[in-house]
Amino acid sequence: MRTIDTLICCTPILALIISAQAAPDQLSPGTNGPNVVAHGEKIFTSETFSGNGRVCTTCHELNRFGTITPEFVQELFASDPDGPLFRSIDSDDGVGNSYERLKEHATVRVVLDLPERTPSGLGIRKCDDLTNQTVVMHRGSPTVFNVALEQHIMHDGREGDDLVAQALSAVHSHAEPGREPTSEELAAIAAFQSSLFSHSAIAATLKPGRTMEFVDNRPVLALPDGNTPAEKRGRAFFNPDRQCGQCHSGPMLNRTSRFHPNGVGMPIESSFAERAPDIPNEKFRWCYVDLETNKLAPGPLGTTDVFPAPVSDPGIGLTTGFQEFQLEDGSPAMIPNELIVGIAGPLFKIPTLWGTPDTAPYFHNNSAKTLDEVLDQYNFMFTFFPDGSFGLGCDPNAPACMDEQDKKDIISYLQLLSFER
Ligand code: HEC
Ligand code: HEC
Repeated sequence: MRTIDTLICCTPILALIISAQAAPDQLSPGTNGPNVVAHGEKIFTSETFSGNGRVCTTCHELNRFGTITPEFVQELFASDPDGPLFRSIDSDDGVGNSYERLKEHATVRVVLDLPERTPSGLGIRKCDDLTNQTVVMHRGSPTVFNVALEQHIMHDGREGDDLVAQALSAVHSHAEPGREPTSEELAAIAAFQSSLFSHSAIAATLKPGRTMEFVDNRPVLALPDGNTPAEKRGRAFFNPDRQCGQCHSGPMLNRTSRFHPNGVGMPIESSFAERAPDIPNEKFRWCYVDLETNKLAPGPLGTTDVFPAPVSDPGIGLTTGFQEFQLEDGSPAMIPNELIVGIAGPLFKIPTLWGTPDTAPYFHNNSAKTLDEVLDQYNFMFTFFPDGSFGLGCDPNAPACMDEQDKKDIISYLQLLSFER
């Protein structure tokens, strides 16, 4: 039998897990001591709740940088089609035993309850199914490394920074548990995850309270400058006034910069993956509905359709609440989710790019399997802003915002952000 201990023993990232554990003063005292972390690791990696055999590592493989790829799923299926990943809740139709989607895209079924009330007092439903309050999204497993720094966990940020509540949701939604986890067990899972980092420099900047320290608005965690000419050219795309840096800014590269037209420090944006014609998931029309009558109603922008065109996944549009950001002059601002998605389309958490070369596939729906495909998607996105401010750095007369050399340069730069070996 392959236990997680044998899996972990042979991985280059073990050292990092241990080095992070050996620095308990970076974590809040009492709750995250070494024993709690070790207990959390045991639960994360071995069946604890008398469920369907799944554990957290089923989808967040620690020796695969905290995620799973289609190739890995295919290998698993070939060696053991009854293995814990292959449970009918994640089959193609949610009840059967065919796993083509899982094998091709490594996405799982995420069942979401639609919000009862948006700030405007309306609900959001599929237009052809106005009464159904539950929808299923097909999303990839984000890495669990560096989650201690995340203030917006899940692709739509719906769990905030609450790793304890998220652990409970994860057990409920994936593991078909035979018993409820205790609060100690959930806290232990959260403590273990908070000890996982892609880079020791990231662990070292973590302060109690799990926030990064900013000095005069300058990140403590510096981006590498790049050594080769290609890496240095790639680095320039991450300047805050350039194509990538406008959204991948700040120490974790997961906040918009001050050059971003929608506001400074936004944790949520779009890669336009939902607008691409060939994404893996079926697209639907989404509508505003009056919950008293279950009839269509005009939303905050006056239309009954939430988006101008069908999309598979409305992202934060299915969550209630507000996004906080700053205006140009630095003053704080908030915008309700329903309004910003009406204006900007489906929005998702901006993921950190620390470690990203190791955590393919990419985007919430795993639509990009490689970094090359990520950049093709951005070239598609920038065609929507040929000379607008979103194309910061694009030549409006060039056939594509980034040519083949640019793409190579960006990828060679991103390689510098690979997990520390
Ligand atoms: C069947 C696959 C599967 C299993 C098992 C699973 N997860 Fe996940 N996990 C996912 C998917 C898919 C998402 C993203 C869902 C979304 O955004 O709606 C996710 C998201 C997360 C996130 C958010 C990461 C981020 O940066 O946003 C954390 C943390 C997490 N899972 C922890 C856990 C824990 C802890 C367990 C075990 C108790 C677990 N997961 C079990 C598939 C899985
Ligand atoms: C308008 C904002 C925006 C711009 C500009 C932008 N990104 Fe992103 N990036 C995002 C968002 C939002 C996501 C997550 C999208 C999703 O899940 O669908 C993302 C995801 C990614 C991912 C996948 C990470 C993962 O774990 O799935 C990579 C890699 C990436 N971006 C690199 C880049 C590069 C390189 C550039 C410049 C060419 C760039 N981004 C420009 C907002 C942006």
